[in-house]
Amino acid sequence: MKIAPSIFASDLADLGSGLAVCEQGGVEVVHVDVMDGHFVPNLTFGPPVISALAKRTRLALDVHLMVAHPDRLLDLYLEAGARWISVHWEALTHVDRTIERIREAGRRAGIALNPATPAAVLDDILPALDFVLLMSVNPGFSGQRFIPYVLDKAHRLRATIDERGLDVELEIDGGVAEDNLHEVREAGVDVSVIGSGIFGTDDPVATTRRLRERAAEPR
Ligand code: DX5
Ligand code: ZN
Repeated sequence: MKIAPSIFASDLADLGSGLAVCEQGGVEVVHVDVMDGHFVPNLTFGPPVISALAKRTRLALDVHLMVAHPDRLLDLYLEAGARWISVHWEALTHVDRTIERIREAGRRAGIALNPATPAAVLDDILPALDFVLLMSVNPGFSGQRFIPYVLDKAHRLRATIDERGLDVELEIDGGVAEDNLHEVREAGVDVSVIGSGIFGTDDPVATTRRLRERAAEPR
């Protein structure tokens, strides 16, 4: 399992040092939460911020679009340098068209599901995805508590992916930290997003390294 630090939980007045934590911690991917004040009750990073981050680091930016009408913004985020992009199923009408656009641009395409949205909505489109992002908190804020029933959803989706022999990664986002990393790994998750569980600790670089080691242990 990989660890993707969520830069939203870092010092927002000093995003460069948040990226430095990710680099020194040895991760491959940085999770960037885009919120629009409509789909979620919070507002964060526009395309210029993504492009500034992309200029500062060679790590892949995993851009999580928590926005209404993601189609209207997609090109801007692609141009800004997002390498992974996830769009919320709940925010889309023509899901297949959006996924196709992301893949045609040569980026990794994912669908994000709110905690209460059943994974079964992805049954048909699953083979066309690079990853699925399961929200384990209600999107909008970092530092919330992990919703336990999402673990079962992760287990079941992992089993479906494996039974069907698909090459789709499973990402989980929200409320993950050192104390529940084990359960998340056991559920068959490939990428664990961690915000306050890294940036809210005394030594975020040491925490990231430790999380990486624990995440790499076999299931
Ligand atoms: C929540 C975001 C998460 C959040 C994770 O809307 O999608 O990525 O930053 O933060 P923690 O790990 O603190 O729950
Ligand atoms: Zn996120």
